[in-house]
Amino acid sequence: MTKEKDKQQFFCESCGAQSLRWEGRCGACGAWNTIKEFRPGRSQAGVRAGGKIELVRPRLLSEVQRDHAHRLVGTGSELNRVLGGGLTPGSVALVAGDPGIGKSTLLMQALAGFSQSWSVLYVSGEESLEQLKQRADRLGLRGERFPVLMENRLEVVIQGVEETQPEILVVDSIQTLASETSPSAAGTVNQVRECAGRLIHLAKTRNMAVFLVGHVTKDGQIAGPRVLEHMVDTVLYFEGERGHDYRILRAVKNRFGPSNEIGVFEMCQSGLKEVANPSELFLSERIRGAAGSVVFPGMEGTRPVLVEIQSLVAPSVFPQPRRNTLGWDPNRLAMLTAVLEKRLGLGFYNHDIFLNIAGGFRVTEPAADLAVAASLFGSLKNFSLDSGLVVVGEVGLGGEVRAVSHVATRLREAAKLGFERALLPEKSLKHVVDVPKMELTAVSSVEEMIRQLP
Ligand code: TYD
Ligand code: MG
Repeated sequence: MTKEKDKQQFFCESCGAQSLRWEGRCGACGAWNTIKEFRPGRSQAGVRAGGKIELVRPRLLSEVQRDHAHRLVGTGSELNRVLGGGLTPGSVALVAGDPGIGKSTLLMQALAGFSQSWSVLYVSGEESLEQLKQRADRLGLRGERFPVLMENRLEVVIQGVEETQPEILVVDSIQTLASETSPSAAGTVNQVRECAGRLIHLAKTRNMAVFLVGHVTKDGQIAGPRVLEHMVDTVLYFEGERGHDYRILRAVKNRFGPSNEIGVFEMCQSGLKEVANPSELFLSERIRGAAGSVVFPGMEGTRPVLVEIQSLVAPSVFPQPRRNTLGWDPNRLAMLTAVLEKRLGLGFYNHDIFLNIAGGFRVTEPAADLAVAASLFGSLKNFSLDSGLVVVGEVGLGGEVRAVSHVATRLREAAKLGFERALLPEKSLKHVVDVPKMELTAVSSVEEMIRQLP
């Protein structure tokens, strides 16, 4: 009796939290009627064959052959970069993003590229074959080596894989799949967990690369469980801003390459086009010489990306002035204004501040502090900076300017795009090598930066 009890597990379908017994309301997220029973014994079908556990002996690391070392390199260089130099056989990647952002388009295009050299299979649980054909026509794909399967049942998908023996499989989306061994509906925690687990096992045993598409829920989580993120080898987020045509594919986890790597695309009439030089795109609408506009040489993974930081500082009529940021952490802005007020005696307290990273890009690096400070100062004093200048550096609470990583890579990108001057941390100066045609001004504090601004 107790043994039977031990086997029972209860999970919330909404947030994935485990609970000891069935309850009407989830203690973790407060949702009603979402606790469901989950039986692990039945779910790990691949591991247990015929009720017996397969014996696997430990092996010496020195004896293990790296037969997985080669990569499947697709035709798209942006995707290859994000994957860390191509797709690894036997790996499972989750591609997550808002509905309508272009996940199906991205994967259909990528798979068509891969299909020139490898066997592929595209499984769709969301769209009919006609809809897939319509998209393929739009993308200009003939699809001669492109088998598609419209299916929601996991067991049938697995059968399809056994038949077509693909080296690369796309499942669009994991939330639409359901296994017959689990009683829950498609898209619930149990089903997503079960289906992903079985597909991951299939990928490892067949040495087949798998892309799983995952929808993001309203609150920004990959629908249902975050557990998927821990189960897969690679997690890619496909992002874009409303009103902008460009899309960013970002690796937030990668067991086979650097994370934080990005690929930039533009959504056009005939699908996604790669953007080889994102800096040009993000700076394309810049008005030279506008007050409060500063160019920051940022890094996204191993790649330099130049972005324009804009701010508008205006006298406030409110007792509590407004602080609005787009693409930048509001807490970091509060810290920077406090440092500037304390160190330079600037009066931001009676001013509204609007800070924007132009083009809808997001900057999370502290290395942008100095550029944000320069932008705030420029807007407050209403003067324009030299339009050939880039600014980089982290600012500490004492107003000191701290060193940043990859300074040479950042400046080389700026020089390539015609920037002539750089304001950078004193401590980073020794790392600047091979940067041609740039006038460098090193600063060690925000006071010094203000003196050096033109
Ligand atoms: P889709 O790939 O279906 O998004 P997801 O799978 O993430 O839900 O793409 C949806 C949007 O992309 C849709 O609004 C139409 C647009 N789109 C284009 O602009 N050009 C194209 O060539 C294609 C195929 C789609
Ligand atoms: Mg889709």
